[in-house]
Amino acid sequence: MQVPKVLVSRRSSNKRAPIGDSEAHLISATKDRLAPNSIWRLRGSTESLLRSTLDRLPGGKVSESEQRYPTTLQGVRAFLDSLFARHFFQVQDSLLAFVLHLVASQPMEHGTVCFADVGSGPAVASLALMDLLNCVQEIQEEHRAGRQRRIGISVALNDISEPCLNVGLDLLAAYSRAARSRLFLERIIPVSVPFPESNTQLRRIAQLTQPYDLCCLSYALAPLKDQSDCNAISQGISRLAEACRYANGRIVVIQDKFHESLLSQVCRNLGSVPQEVQIKQAVYDPQNQNTEHTYTFFRSIYPDSKKDEQAQNVEQVTVSA
Ligand SMILES: C[S@@+](CC[C@H](N)C(=O)[O-])C[C@H]1O[C@@H](n2cnc3c(N)ncnc32)[C@H](O)[C@@H]1O
Repeated sequence: MQVPKVLVSRRSSNKRAPIGDSEAHLISATKDRLAPNSIWRLRGSTESLLRSTLDRLPGGKVSESEQRYPTTLQGVRAFLDSLFARHFFQVQDSLLAFVLHLVASQPMEHGTVCFADVGSGPAVASLALMDLLNCVQEIQEEHRAGRQRRIGISVALNDISEPCLNVGLDLLAAYSRAARSRLFLERIIPVSVPFPESNTQLRRIAQLTQPYDLCCLSYALAPLKDQSDCNAISQGISRLAEACRYANGRIVVIQDKFHESLLSQVCRNLGSVPQEVQIKQAVYDPQNQNTEHTYTFFRSIYPDSKKDEQAQNVEQVTVSA
């Protein structure tokens, strides 16, 4: 694993400012663009990136478990084909308020958003974050009628599947090339050691570069539970939180409704509260084009904070307006 030779962990003691009108406006404008009429849709550039990736990956029938937790390129293809859009939208919906708060009220001290994607698969959550930031930059450019400072993104991708990591690296690099006027990938570091043991590497990356603004475990709890118990998973998440930006960093955990009790148990150990969410999205299935579907999932944001609740409330008000 290559890590740059910069040293010292820089911890910020900044308190997050209360959400303001311009931030609420930015949340609402971004939500309208990513989910017009409250229906989440892939934007053109992401949809064509998905299509071209599917076209170049080998096809073929795979088992249900291979589709869910891919270990081959065929499996990655089946995973992207069936689950990409669903996970992508759920991550964007979950990160929206926090990311906009980060962009609007915190100067992103080093001009870089630092992200850890645990159980990353082919980097769907990282791509969702990049697309979210790209969209915010686009809106700010239009409103301020001028070019914004480019946002740097630093990503640690942690997965035990090499094909997932390889496709994830390609997807992020391709997205970053296409969006280069607004963002750039400062670094991507793949970590193939299983979580929670990977905490050693993930924490070292934060020490050598900068603390994480955000860490995400999207649909990773269920496979982790097959390998260790809830206490070990919760301890792993809590150790990862120590590598986040002091007071401002967050860990977002997303899981489907069939694993509600697993997420609840992990949340109880951490002292956070899971939230049930429903979102409506366009369905990306060649046989089922132009349809919409509502999915229910659960998410938790750790550590909980009043300010996050405030930000989420603004988002919810906006959705129902
Ligand atoms: C359902 S996929 C989720 C992928 C992605 N986060 C998303 O939301 O689309 C779960 C991923 O967790 C990975 N995984 C399983 N056990 C792991 C472990 N101990 N450490 C890191 N990743 C793991 C699997 O290889 C798989 O790619």
